[in-house]
Amino acid sequence: MGYKDLKFEKNALFLVTGGAGFIGSNLCEAILDMGYKVRCLDNLSTGRYENIEKSTLNPDFTFIKGDIRDLDTCMDACRDVDFVLNQAAWGSVPRSIEMPLLYEEINIRGTLNMMEAARQTGVKKFVYASSSSVYGDHPVLPKQEGREGKLLSPYALTKRVDEEYGRLYKVLYGLDTYGMRYFNVFGRRQDPNGMYAAVIPKFIRQLMDGQVPTIHGDGRQSRDFTYIDNVIEANLKACLAPSEAAGEAYNIGAGGREYLIDVYYDLCKALGKDVEPEFGPARPGDIRDSNADISKARQMLSYDPEYDFEKGINLAIDWYKENL
Ligand SMILES: NC(=O)c1ccc[n+]([C@@H]2O[C@H](COP(=O)([O-])OP(=O)(O)OC[C@H]3O[C@@H](n4cnc5c(N)ncnc54)[C@H](O)[C@@H]3O)[C@@H](O)[C@H]2O)c1
Repeated sequence: MGYKDLKFEKNALFLVTGGAGFIGSNLCEAILDMGYKVRCLDNLSTGRYENIEKSTLNPDFTFIKGDIRDLDTCMDACRDVDFVLNQAAWGSVPRSIEMPLLYEEINIRGTLNMMEAARQTGVKKFVYASSSSVYGDHPVLPKQEGREGKLLSPYALTKRVDEEYGRLYKVLYGLDTYGMRYFNVFGRRQDPNGMYAAVIPKFIRQLMDGQVPTIHGDGRQSRDFTYIDNVIEANLKACLAPSEAAGEAYNIGAGGREYLIDVYYDLCKALGKDVEPEFGPARPGDIRDSNADISKARQMLSYDPEYDFEKGINLAIDWYKENL
């Protein structure tokens, strides 16, 4: 079952931090469509107001422009909230290698502020974005919770620390926290622009603009590319998960494994382009292969992803064709 039929209390209020970003804005929209109230907190640093423009027309939606690095802002945002979906963070492994201090401030301190505010205001469930990057250099595939290797980037470290705080906030304070280890999410509204853009929207944009995309490494790296609707499902099901499942982190993937070079040619075909890519050096900090064992999330959160890669990529391509 997907997420659209999930039921919460009639007046349930969700706080989505990072709600003007790719994943956050999709969460806001999905929750509003289901008839519940959403408060969105975002400082618009990497997110865009246009992502939430449609939601602002809904009386059940409120937007706070603010920063999770400020505890008072987090406290105000959490008041009367039932569920926090904490997505605010800076993404990108390479950028974190350039700016480790900023990543520490936003991704660790910001998330800690949010957990603390949620604890003090009596939030019921605190669901937060982690990342498959926490697996570091552990070679075993598929990736399984509890089998993590040495971390490869400051970004991965920030997510690992968030997970430890998540565990502690459950053990020490009884806050029900659920870490979502997303595996390369893609879909509508993911930003295709800039040097830190994720690979799928970046390739789509470059191919549509007649540019020649660059693949870092040999293209044989593999990923469990996960469609956005699976991520929405995971977040909402975590809000309904039992307390016994809290204090833990969960792989949120689609359970597939795609080689980047194959994805590239799939995109070329779907967009009617016949362009050979350029190859550049592999990027430091990147994991070579990553696909998720999702049995823990299936068991504990009833996560049952509806979209495999093929179904998701076709929807994503259609969206970019209409919206770019
Ligand atoms: N997209 C993926 O494939 C992926 C994979 C693993 C983990 N994640 C995690 O999921 C979350 C959402 O990622 P996304 O892809 O939607 O990124 P995004 O950049 O589109 O969204 C992040 C949002 O957070 C906001 N933000 C950043 N710093 C903030 C701050 N200090 N205060 C308030 N708001 C702030 C940004 O303005 C933006 O709107 C992040 O935590 C990211 O690390 C994403």
